[in-house]
Amino acid sequence: MSDRATWSAVDQYFAERIVREDDALTAALRDTEAAGMPAIAVSAAQGKLLHLLARSIGAKRVLEVGTLGGYSTIWLGRAVGPAGRVISLELSAKHADVARKNVDRAGLSSIVEVRLGAAIDLLPKLHAENAAPFDFVFIDADKASCWEYFDWAVKLSRPGAIVIVDNVVRNGAVAEPTKTGDDVEGVRRFLDRAGRDPRVDLTAIQTVGSKGYDGFAMAVVK
Ligand code: SAH
Ligand code: DHB
Ligand code: MG
Repeated sequence: MSDRATWSAVDQYFAERIVREDDALTAALRDTEAAGMPAIAVSAAQGKLLHLLARSIGAKRVLEVGTLGGYSTIWLGRAVGPAGRVISLELSAKHADVARKNVDRAGLSSIVEVRLGAAIDLLPKLHAENAAPFDFVFIDADKASCWEYFDWAVKLSRPGAIVIVDNVVRNGAVAEPTKTGDDVEGVRRFLDRAGRDPRVDLTAIQTVGSKGYDGFAMAVVK
């Protein structure tokens, strides 16, 4: 058996035994759903992977592109320690509002800042205000502009920083030329350019789980 129901059951098994979301995380998902927002946050196991990756390099400054209800943001906020900082960029005022409440409830309001606006406008501002360098970046907004966000992420990162890009597989669509549309074409454009980008070393990993069949790209900045 290897269908979506099985993948979800295994994610649940992991979530119960090893990841163990607490009340702030489950409440963040609950309130995201209650606000009518889409159920596209990372899974618990993925959130903890982001958390562990950030911790493993001692990340203190984290940038996220695409906040939604702040679920991944909370995992990242818990990775940076009390003197750390997470800046998360979000286009939707409603999403940013829900996320700030979720972040507050998690006790992370002094660490996490949710900035409202289009990422393509906010990223150059971070550069201008010397908010960089970041140690860890999670890119998870609209897929059409994935390359532009990645390009900024690299510019805003220190050598040794990790940049993770979500949703690079899209149920296999990435490698299926008949599949078209802004999202999948944006992912292909990102992979084509990032794969030849001399500033980074890159890999991509396919994943299955409660979020279906998808994957992450991971870069280390040289
Ligand atoms: N990282 C979140 C999920 C993000 S979903 C988690 O795992 O919990 C993608 C988010 O990106 C949505 O909230 C959407 O509103 C936001 N988004 C879409 N286009 C954007 C843009 N141009 N700039 C900033 N955020 C954007
Ligand atoms: C979608 C976006 C995401 O970031 C994700 O993880 C899953 C789905 C979407 O736009 O459909
Ligand atoms: Mg995503």
